[in-house]
Amino acid sequence: MPEPATVHELLERVRDSINRQEADLTATFQFVAEGEGTYRLVIDDGVCELVTGEGEATSTVFTTAEDALLIFGGHTDSMKAFMEGRMRIEGDLIAMSALQAFTPGNAAAVGGATLGELAPEDSPSLRVWEDRVAARVSPEQTLRHVAAERGIHVGAAVASPAGASGESLLHREFNGLGAENAFKWSHLAKFVGQYDFTRADAFVDYAQRHDMRLRGHTLIWGRGGRPHDLESTLRSSDDPAAMLRRLMADHIETVAGRYRGKVAVWDVVNEPMAYSGIGLDKNVFTDTLGETYVDESFALARAADPDAQLVLNEQISASQYDGPSAVDFLDFARRLLDRGVPIDGIGLQGHMLTDTPDPDALFSYLEQIQQLGVFIEITEMDMRVGLFADEEDPLGAQADAFHRVAEVLAAVPAVCGVMLWGSADSETWLDHFPPFDAGAPNQPVLFDRSLNPKPAYHAFKHGLASRPVLD
Ligand code: XIL
Repeated sequence: MPEPATVHELLERVRDSINRQEADLTATFQFVAEGEGTYRLVIDDGVCELVTGEGEATSTVFTTAEDALLIFGGHTDSMKAFMEGRMRIEGDLIAMSALQAFTPGNAAAVGGATLGELAPEDSPSLRVWEDRVAARVSPEQTLRHVAAERGIHVGAAVASPAGASGESLLHREFNGLGAENAFKWSHLAKFVGQYDFTRADAFVDYAQRHDMRLRGHTLIWGRGGRPHDLESTLRSSDDPAAMLRRLMADHIETVAGRYRGKVAVWDVVNEPMAYSGIGLDKNVFTDTLGETYVDESFALARAADPDAQLVLNEQISASQYDGPSAVDFLDFARRLLDRGVPIDGIGLQGHMLTDTPDPDALFSYLEQIQQLGVFIEITEMDMRVGLFADEEDPLGAQADAFHRVAEVLAAVPAVCGVMLWGSADSETWLDHFPPFDAGAPNQPVLFDRSLNPKPAYHAFKHGLASRPVLD
């Protein structure tokens, strides 16, 4: 089939692909293609229509017609396109990302072909790192011990702790625990006020039984993770700002209040900044309340649980720690602290999906954050092995990159935590999350699917062990 020549033609194909697959999707995606026009894919329970012209949308993409064809035509890693500022998205990014699954030629777009399952024992680096670690820490010391002795919480975020294939591994190797989704507003309450705490409670129980520091992710997140009817509830109100304040207060009091003394640290606000370029993310919170939604969220969280540590969590692309978006986030955090917002810590997500960081840039950025007088955590670290597809030993190259990051973290005293987004490769979100699912198995964390330690496990442990043991 010839390549689509216009954005309209491209979207016709996406529409057809959605209709063929009876996708479980209800959303409206708007494309403002500079140089061509504005179109919307209106999807109602998997039935998709393509309409011309502006209107309400779940997510809106702004880009040039030329870039839209490149990005959505399956030739370019779309995450890169955001980060390089060639396209801007307003609204729900997660929903937008789901759309990628239906774009023709998407598989090629991820950057890095599928490598197939790589076995740790086939990587010559496994022995090398085992030996290096053995020279630094005693063999019975797990990652958890090594980190704890150095004042670092090393954690893993999982879908569910009990019954995860690595349940025993989880508390053996980690002294921190996180939930990929269970504490998100959308997962606690599918609809406003209708709470179900079962899944989140299971995390509390597990963390208590195994003496792990539990991270609550996340109270307020503009880009996703909200009850389905939050927007419609606001629309039907005469005073949406007052209504949103009331809903936020109810939510934070309910959740941080319930988990008082149980959740040690909250990501109070997740991803406040725009994905690309500078400035705040444009979402229902900023639209309704401006940037003070962040101030208000922190004040509410402090009141609901005065002893919990409160974190502002942001994603910064691994190649951008010395870029303008990193500076912009630092300025924002400083501004909040200057006006007395009770932020205890800064979280950097650490998803390494398109690049790995330059260690000097990472080090200097962490030092600048440290100067704000807050603690620092890497909250969601993972690293697609596809980044190393061209290397002779991809798992070895991945281990080297994990090692470089760990050494930097160990060298900055304000860093008190690092959480992997997943415990074993078999459970990574990336294998199910467009566009990265096309690169499955992504093998982005420290244990393989049989729960064996990868070279990256030993390398990471070795790197953290470069921090001296606390007295
Ligand atoms: C991801 C979860 O891991 C997935 O299971 C879910 O489908 C989408 O969200 N940044 C964040 C996390 O702050 O909440 C996201 O978690 C990953 C990106």
